Amino acid sequence: MRITQVPFALTRRACSSALAQVPFSIRARNAVLLLPDSQITFLASLPRSGALRPQARPAHPTRHQAEPSFFLTRATTTTRSSPVPLLSSMAPDHSSLSNFTEIRVTHSDFELDVNLGKKIIEGYVQLDAIAEVDSPSHLLLDTRDLTIHRVELHSPLQSPQEQGGPIPLKFQMDEPHKVLGSALRLELPANLVGPLTRGSRLSLGVRFTTSPSSSAVQFLDPAQTAGGRQPYLFTQCQAIHARSLVPCQDSPGAKMSYSAVVRVPQPLTALMSAVPDEQPPAGGLPHLADVEPNYPTNLFSFYQKVPIAPYLLALAVGELSSATLGPRTRVWSEPSMVEAGAYEFADTNRFLEAGEAIAGEYVWGRYDLLLLPPSFPYGGMENPCLTFVTPTLLAGDRSLTNVVAHEIAHSWTGNLVTNATWEHFWLNEGFTMFLERKILGRLHGPAAFQFHASQGAAKLAAEVERLGADNPYTRLVPDLSGGVDPDDVFSSIPYEKGFYFLYYLQELVGGADVFDPFLAAYIAAHQHTTLTSAEFRKFFEDYFKEVPAAQTVDWDTWFFSPGMPPVTNTYDTSLAQQAYDLAMKWHTCDVMGIGSDGPAGASPADVAGWSSEQMVAFLDKLRQFRALQPMHKTMTKRLAELYGIYDSNNSEIRYSFFKLAIPAEDDQALSAAASMLRSQGRMKFLRPLYRALHRSKAGRQLAENTFADVGMSYHPIARKMVAADLGIKEQ
Ligand code: BES
Ligand code: ZN
Repeated sequence: MRITQVPFALTRRACSSALAQVPFSIRARNAVLLLPDSQITFLASLPRSGALRPQARPAHPTRHQAEPSFFLTRATTTTRSSPVPLLSSMAPDHSSLSNFTEIRVTHSDFELDVNLGKKIIEGYVQLDAIAEVDSPSHLLLDTRDLTIHRVELHSPLQSPQEQGGPIPLKFQMDEPHKVLGSALRLELPANLVGPLTRGSRLSLGVRFTTSPSSSAVQFLDPAQTAGGRQPYLFTQCQAIHARSLVPCQDSPGAKMSYSAVVRVPQPLTALMSAVPDEQPPAGGLPHLADVEPNYPTNLFSFYQKVPIAPYLLALAVGELSSATLGPRTRVWSEPSMVEAGAYEFADTNRFLEAGEAIAGEYVWGRYDLLLLPPSFPYGGMENPCLTFVTPTLLAGDRSLTNVVAHEIAHSWTGNLVTNATWEHFWLNEGFTMFLERKILGRLHGPAAFQFHASQGAAKLAAEVERLGADNPYTRLVPDLSGGVDPDDVFSSIPYEKGFYFLYYLQELVGGADVFDPFLAAYIAAHQHTTLTSAEFRKFFEDYFKEVPAAQTVDWDTWFFSPGMPPVTNTYDTSLAQQAYDLAMKWHTCDVMGIGSDGPAGASPADVAGWSSEQMVAFLDKLRQFRALQPMHKTMTKRLAELYGIYDSNNSEIRYSFFKLAIPAEDDQALSAAASMLRSQGRMKFLRPLYRALHRSKAGRQLAENTFADVGMSYHPIARKMVAADLGIKEQ
């Protein structure tokens, strides 16, 4: 790192490792820092009054403060109008209606009032933006199901009399798109703001309200919580739901830092995907005076100094408490679940340290976990500083914590190095599977890595089979043009084909000894930016230009051909083999009709000492063997009894068993599967189980009845996806 002069105003945080090496300079008053190109986007988007300010603290940019004057220039130029960093990737984002390549939001400062009675959030956001081109005529923000009340310009203000306060701006909501929502179009008339040249900044305020149907937000009644006394709210913004929470440029390419003050009714706590302030903020919510509640409230404030893609915005409100797990880690949940969470996730710090050893410094400050109520629709969500996890991970024996390793891995791949658009989602998830398995391999040995890799390959094959080998959504890089909903394309493909590709590349260039340093270099080179698959290819080809084998990759087939990958990887299956052998025994016994008692000599000892993952491998293999003709239900019942399936607290084991036993029309499994559908809302379990029930004779009606009963308690995204799977039109 070369710093020629440190500005007197530079805080320690801004001087982190993010500021490294050469060719750009940053000027703060009379100080200069030398920086590499890749860091410029990061710095340009730091909140001006946060990273570069005359005091070491407070960290938050406050909207009443005069702007410190600093600007970015190329090291070789001296004029103020020099180019300001552009995005690393200018790929068009088919999933956003915003114009962030013309004018880009760099910081959002939120005031949020959470109204649990009305199931809405009242909000005000001050958006700091930078012009990426000369004279942009308007700013387009993504919205969906938001009411916009007013828009105002904070700066630049032209005449001295305008210095008194913001001035109203004209705005309009564009015609809504079914998937993408409505663009909020803010006019930037030249005479109002003066000439807006590339690199100049402006600051706008938007007063808005969410709607009860905002897809990012689920409001839970007290009865849907563990405590049963207080309401709860949580958001899920990935992939394109942030726009239904706040007006924003809802594209991964529009990274921004953010700060927020959140008002909630007492005695609730608010958490966000940011570092919480220890002190409650002074001054309340000045722009939300019109919705001052008449009940007692608490204020919470947050600061996310690292620019994040808007899909990483997150908020949760409820009766929450926490337990400390490590120096930078605690687990939050409703009070009755904190202890269970603290036990289950005790390994979190080890995962974090392993992640750092592989991928580099953890830049996010805290890594906390929030254990959500059962309707949380995913296993985990990598919200920065605060991973959200499903309570279905609470097996009681720490056997499902690979999900935590996965979300931790996103701290580098996804949150720091981000897919430019959802077409390149494998750059988030495939890399994260790779890093997750590297973390687990470091902690549990190379055989564990190989086992997980082999299970991933099996999952990939099953997913390709399910979707069809010519289905365009089995491409590593699908085409989302025309506003295809990323939720509709979601599958294991980007995860497992992505992982498979990276493992292939690793072996091709000489194995982990050379690939691990490549991975670290890839992260260091792309941190704080976004990239496309083509940019990954270029980086790989440059890095391995001396390695002849690296020139033989059939990139187009890997990226754009549907179906299974063009090359077959081989993994060490020694840990999986026992499971496969046992599956073969049950399969043979079922096919030969040798009897209802299962294979000769079958006993609980068959699986004694197995990990839960081996058990899942056994069940999945057996299901694969019986894909064409379901098992006999006498066999599934016997299997469940011998191996204690119904006694297991492990949601993955139960789920894998149900997928085997539902086609067998096993009545006990049918009703136990229906209870699983009633007791949790994780899409990974809901969708395949509903589909399996719906296909089975006895289960079809059960699926429909169950959905009719509990569908409304699912998260809006889960409800929509299950309804589509069942062919039910949502009202
Ligand atoms: N980021 C994903 C969850 C996600 C993906 C939410 C797409 C919305 C849209 C998260 O990191 C994830 O992959 N979770 C998995 C964990 C698993 C692969 C270990 C899950 O939820 O099951
Ligand atoms: Zn993930």
